[in-house]
Amino acid sequence: MSVSIRSCGRTHCPPGEVIADCRVRQTQLPAVPSTLLIPLAARAHGARLYPWLDCQDHDARHLLDCLQTDWRPMLQDRVAVLNVLWRTRLIKGWAGAFFQRHPEATGVALGCGLSHYFQWLDVGTNRWIDADLPEVCQLRHTLLPPARERRLNAAVDLTRPGWWEALSLSRLDDGQPLFLVCEGVLMYLSPPRVRAILAEFADRAPAGSVLALDAISHVGVGQARHSLSVGRTGAEFHWGLHQIDELLHIHPRLRIAESRSVSECYGWMGWAAETLCLPWTGAPLYALVALTVGPR
Ligand SMILES: C[S@@+](CC[C@H](N)C(=O)[O-])C[C@H]1O[C@@H](n2cnc3c(N)ncnc32)[C@H](O)[C@@H]1O
Repeated sequence: MSVSIRSCGRTHCPPGEVIADCRVRQTQLPAVPSTLLIPLAARAHGARLYPWLDCQDHDARHLLDCLQTDWRPMLQDRVAVLNVLWRTRLIKGWAGAFFQRHPEATGVALGCGLSHYFQWLDVGTNRWIDADLPEVCQLRHTLLPPARERRLNAAVDLTRPGWWEALSLSRLDDGQPLFLVCEGVLMYLSPPRVRAILAEFADRAPAGSVLALDAISHVGVGQARHSLSVGRTGAEFHWGLHQIDELLHIHPRLRIAESRSVSECYGWMGWAAETLCLPWTGAPLYALVALTVGPR
């Protein structure tokens, strides 16, 4: 998929105006990075469909305006929009509670796309790193440049061992726990890579650190073509859970602090359908899990 950029009202052009030397130029994103448009569109416009899940993302709509791409088909994937708004609300809550306890800690969005959690989570003393592949990081530098000393953008490939050090996280933690979020990312990676990423987190993170991640059931693997939004991008789902507890087998320090299923958005019918299907799906069709690390 190719995403072309028109202008950037935030960093270079007054909204509605295109100035000649705007540094934002045409760019192309491969299949998986291009999926960043799906959650961006959901955060920008999804509240039309689910007003009670409005995440109040003040940047998403503007960022989407800067991208010369038709985002309307993405809103037709109502399931994906619901998933994104639901997880955003939960992650905001988990991270907000974490920074209340650790106001000087660092947060990291792994595979951040054009998400902007620090708009909600800045408590004045914490720090935040938005990390993604180099091509996305470059786009992000233009659209969402680092602000203040406490919010940084960083290029990283999570599938390469050593991403923890590549992001200098051991230098930044000051012995304090970190809050990491990896949403809409792991399902696109192979199972051995996902296990390696989670094992590196468990191995390197200070005790009490949290990693919020989302996961699909294993029955969704290879089925991206059935998704109205992901199917358009050419990306594929490679990793899914057979059961939530399998995350614990990846590393002895890993604990599950909380796990939630999107079925909770569908009331008792969602609960009943999930209970009936669980012998087949093993794990919820779409779940959000907060992993923590215990002491060494
Ligand atoms: C569906 S988007 C999610 C973006 C963001 N987390 C959000 O929710 O708005 C998937 C993101 O994962 C990133 N990604 C995929 N593989 C990656 C890798 N190996 N290392 C870092 N980021 C990766 C993509 O570039 C893309 O931005």
